[in-house]
Amino acid sequence: LTATCGLAMMATGALADPAGCDDGETVVKFSHVTNADKHPKGIAASLFAERVNAEMEGTMCVEVYPNSTLYDDDVLLEAMLQGDVQLGAPSLSKFETFTKVFQIFDLPFMFKNIAAVDEFQASETGQAMKASMERRGLMGLEFWHNGLKQLSANKPLLTPEDAKGLKFRVQPSDVIIAQMEAIGASAQPMAFAEVYGALQTGVVDGQENAWSNIYGQKFYEVQDGTTETNHGVLDYMVVASTDWLDSLDPAVKDQMLTILNEVTTERNAAVNDVDMAARQAILDAGSEIRALDDTQRQAWVDAMKPVWDQFAEGVGQDNIDAAQAINE
Ligand code: LMR
Repeated sequence: LTATCGLAMMATGALADPAGCDDGETVVKFSHVTNADKHPKGIAASLFAERVNAEMEGTMCVEVYPNSTLYDDDVLLEAMLQGDVQLGAPSLSKFETFTKVFQIFDLPFMFKNIAAVDEFQASETGQAMKASMERRGLMGLEFWHNGLKQLSANKPLLTPEDAKGLKFRVQPSDVIIAQMEAIGASAQPMAFAEVYGALQTGVVDGQENAWSNIYGQKFYEVQDGTTETNHGVLDYMVVASTDWLDSLDPAVKDQMLTILNEVTTERNAAVNDVDMAARQAILDAGSEIRALDDTQRQAWVDAMKPVWDQFAEGVGQDNIDAAQAINE
């Protein structure tokens, strides 16, 4: 498979042509749920495929399946354990049934920006988290960034009282469910691909996500603006099954992981640009973005932060302290 061919497949967003890989190449299916070209994860996955397909021609061939065309995140990890898909990069909130260690990233107002998240992940504690699911057959390879989460609903949200009684789509995370309950709202876990329709038909009233997802899925079209709360983090982990990794020739595995690491460094460094471009595109589309003044923002902090107490024991107070020290 040539790099050009790999990109053409992704640009259409269609199911990749399995025949695009040459005989004898190890085929690597990379399944994810976002768009391929305007999103931090999509761009990183495309660049990874492009580089592997150029530099490992004849040995390894990556097919990227974006936009939930192969799997939704709720079935991806099981499919990976079955050997049906080799790579994915679900958000850290999606690993809760496998490990609780990523709950720290879901705690509201834990990290002030993505640079703080990056520093925490690069620490010994953060790096050790990659191996937290090894006994369950999954290995974390790299953290990929997206951005801070914003909140939207079918009405303006300026104070937590505005959210009372509303139903928000959430990722399947006990922490995020508790966060919504803390503001007097209810939470409905739902696959990413279903959110637009659920907002449009009123199955849910609101949602929280990073700018690139609000833009990429056009949530702003079916919401009354977006409130710039920056209340949480949306980040990813590139993951593979330990069985599959062990089955690879060591030199092939090393080359693939080196490319993945270089792509991670390059794309994580550019993530704020992608995030801000998505934010600007929402404004350009004529949708309102509401900023919070200090008092309003503090009200969201006061309403959401008590959730930390519910999860501090599982997350570890030392981890929380480490994350907070980075914010200073
Ligand atoms: C979501 O489900 O909202 C996100 O995790 C989607 C994604 O991968 O960015």
